Amino acid sequence: MSATSPVRPVLPPDIKARKGGQPLVVLTAYTTPMARLVDPHCDVALVGDSLGMVLHGMPSTVGVTMEMMILHGRAVVRGLSRAMAVIDMPFGSYEESPQQAYRNAARLMAETGAPSVKLEGGQHMAETIAFLTARGVPVMAHIGLTPQAVNTLGGYKVVGRDAEADKVMADARACEAAGAFAIVLEKVPQGLTGRITAALSIPTIGIGAGVDCDGQVLVIDDMLGLFTDFRPKFVKRYAELGKLADAAIAEYAAEVRARSFPGPEHAFADVLPAKAKS
Ligand code: KIV
Repeated sequence: MSATSPVRPVLPPDIKARKGGQPLVVLTAYTTPMARLVDPHCDVALVGDSLGMVLHGMPSTVGVTMEMMILHGRAVVRGLSRAMAVIDMPFGSYEESPQQAYRNAARLMAETGAPSVKLEGGQHMAETIAFLTARGVPVMAHIGLTPQAVNTLGGYKVVGRDAEADKVMADARACEAAGAFAIVLEKVPQGLTGRITAALSIPTIGIGAGVDCDGQVLVIDDMLGLFTDFRPKFVKRYAELGKLADAAIAEYAAEVRARSFPGPEHAFADVLPAKAKS
C-alpha cells in the first residue's frame, strides 16, 4: 500500500476469510489512546466488558451497563483507522429474547460506529445469533468460560474437560450454524480447542485455549502489567507498565515534597523577553 492510499478498515468478512491463514491478532482496548496503540498491530480491538473489572474496579463483569459499553466503544472507534472494533454486549442486554438483543446490538453499533458485537453463549444463544446476523449485526460468539455466567459456573474455571467436551463442541457448531463470523474460546483445554478449530469453517480466537486457534486475544491491561489484582495462568506479561508508573509517580511525589519540581523550565516568567533585533 502506498503512503497516500487510504487505509481500508477490517470488516467481519475479512476476519471470517482468515480461517486457517495467518493467525488473527486481537487485544482489548477501552480508550482512544490504547486503541491508537493497538491499531497498527492488531486485526481486532475488542471493547471487552472486562473493562468493568479492569478500569472500573468491579468484582465481575455482571454490573457492566450499555452506557459504559457505548462510552468506551465510541472512544475506541475514534482511535482506530484499520483494526476492527468488536463491542461486547453487556450482561442483561441480550439474553431475554432475540428482539431485545437486536435492539441493544443495533444501539451499540449505531452509537459507537463499531461494525460488530460479541455475545456470550453457545447453543442457547443460537437463535439470537441467527436473528442478529440475518438483520445486519455481525456476531462474534464467546463460549467455554463465559465470565458473565460466573455466578452459575461457580468461578473462572476451565470449561470442556471430560464429559463437558461434547457440549462445548456442540456450542461451537451451533454458533457457526447460526452465522457467527468468529468464535472466542475461553479457558478451553487445548486438545478440544484443536478439534473445534479443525471442525469449524469460522476462525476460533483463543484466550487460555492453547495455540491451536486461528487467533489469540488478551486483555491489554493484563499483558502490559497494568492490571495486577490477579493474573490468570494464560496471561503472558509483555511489559510491566504498572511498575514503571509506580516508580514515576513515586519520583514525582518526592520531587514535589522536596520542591525540586517544577523547575524554572516548567514555569512562566513575569516579564516577556525583549524582542530580538531584526
Ligand atoms: O471482556 C473481554 O475482555 C473478553 C475477552 C477476555 C475475550 O471477553
